[in-house]
Amino acid sequence: MTAQKSKKTLFINIAFVISLIGILLFLFKAPEITTPKLPHDDDHNRFFSMKKKAAGKLCVECHSVEDTEEIHKETTPNTNRCLFCHRRD
Ligand code: HEC
Ligand code: HEC
Repeated sequence: MTAQKSKKTLFINIAFVISLIGILLFLFKAPEITTPKLPHDDDHNRFFSMKKKAAGKLCVECHSVEDTEEIHKETTPNTNRCLFCHRRD
């Protein structure tokens, strides 16, 4: 390969990696803007140190799937998933 050509390949590879990072940032960051985070209060503090799936099963003690059905109409809430959307930070 000529020096000229390998420079071009390097540039294409860098552009490819940058666009992948852009897509990943978009996918990971976009939903966080509108989804309420897990509140830091007496009701929720214990969940911050739990495994996501174990904690998720306990959410429905207070937030029944029926109660939040209207809010979640675009998705099908599953207790394994609560904390993937409602972030703990
Ligand atoms: C002991 C009862 C209880 C449990 C268990 C509970 N919550 Fe809540 N949650 C509440 C109450 C009460 C509110 C409303 C007051 C508030 O915003 O703190 C609330 C509010 C919220 C909100 C709204 C915050 C906002 O900014 O509007 C989210 C999101 C939430 N809970 C998610 C969860 C998730 C996820 C779990 C399981 C890991 C969970 N909750 C478990 C009682 C509970
Ligand atoms: C696919 C992502 C997703 C999943 C999974 C999910 N939620 Fe939500 N949830 C949202 C979004 C987005 C909102 C905010 C909707 C709005 O405000 O219009 C919301 C709103 C809420 C609210 C109401 C907050 C308020 O301001 O009143 C509660 C409580 C809640 N979710 C609890 C849960 C629980 C419990 C689970 C698991 C059974 C769960 N969510 C699973 C995305 C999700």
